[in-house]
Amino acid sequence: MQQYNFPTTIYFGDDALESLARAIKGKGHQKMLLVTDRTLTSLGLAKQVADVLLTSGAEIVLFDHVHPNPLEEDVEKGSDAFTSTGCDSIVALGGGSPMDVAKVINVATTHAAPLSRYDDAIGGGDRIVNPMAPLYAIPTTSGTGSEVGRAGVIILRETKRKTIIFAPALMPRIAVLVPRLTAGLPPHITAATGIDAFTHSLEAYLAPGFHPLADGVALAGMRICIRHLETCCKDGQNLDARGRMQLASSMGATAFQKGLGMIHSLAHPLSAHHDTHHGLANALLLPDSIEFIENSDLDQDQKERIADVLDLFEKSGLARQTLAETCRHWFAQLGITFGLSHHGIPEDNLVFLSAEAFEDPCHRSNIIPVTEPDLLSVYQKAYP
Ligand SMILES: [Fe+2]
Repeated sequence: MQQYNFPTTIYFGDDALESLARAIKGKGHQKMLLVTDRTLTSLGLAKQVADVLLTSGAEIVLFDHVHPNPLEEDVEKGSDAFTSTGCDSIVALGGGSPMDVAKVINVATTHAAPLSRYDDAIGGGDRIVNPMAPLYAIPTTSGTGSEVGRAGVIILRETKRKTIIFAPALMPRIAVLVPRLTAGLPPHITAATGIDAFTHSLEAYLAPGFHPLADGVALAGMRICIRHLETCCKDGQNLDARGRMQLASSMGATAFQKGLGMIHSLAHPLSAHHDTHHGLANALLLPDSIEFIENSDLDQDQKERIADVLDLFEKSGLARQTLAETCRHWFAQLGITFGLSHHGIPEDNLVFLSAEAFEDPCHRSNIIPVTEPDLLSVYQKAYP
């Protein structure tokens, strides 16, 4: 028996926020914790969104203490704010970080400490059993797809590792995609987050396992990224392209319930130890990871899957000889500067990072099994 889930309600369009306010009114929430970050409060976006949500009649408590790579401390402060003000529901506004923090706040306010008990790597999801507050998610970037995901990623104080807290109950009740909320993202963040969305669909499509539904979503998600990400980078105000990338982002995260792969395992330690932007980390490591895969012994189905992705690029006139070269060329066009050496990663740290990458669970669903030396070899190739 297989179980397939595509259960998130998605409101998509210019007036989706107003629809959320009506839904909140219908549910009778009294006080909502609005989890966001300082950039969004300073840009005035948090206030814009809060003003619409206030029409529901619910009070809003603003919480914006969220780091770009979220820390356990952010969750603790958010839980205190939720409990001390008597909130009954949560709205997450922002990129992956506020959404992840909001999800884990929901765990922290309803489950006994410490958070490390709920680490997915030790089967902690089974301990997440208590009822939690309704959570609504409004993404302002198009990449993580956390608005449709069941996981929150937090760096724990004890281990300094990005730790995945995963349980179906963490999933937002409604994801609200409003294209204009992503229009102000600068080109380099647009590129990095969009490449994250692409990487989710790519790794999901290549992951072993029988999941034709996720495969279909992943292919359609990659197609949107290939066709529309460059437009978003060059013309941020193009709301048609922005809207499509929002959907591609939700699609990537919907598809990766099938699994991710080595690219994410390699990317996670860079963010945990060197604060590298998650999407950028994927961008820096994807071409050499795919080259490693393309040079490995692949069976017919695996070769066809690589060819299917290359075919999507072919139709947009972007294909090169190999998928690795194609992606390298495309990312360069999107403004990515390759080389871990140019992004503050010390070369003598690569051995340590590859040990951490091997500990990361994502590569267990890589298209082919990888060893720690394999991961090190990709870091080394991606270094200069
Ligand atoms: Fe990702």
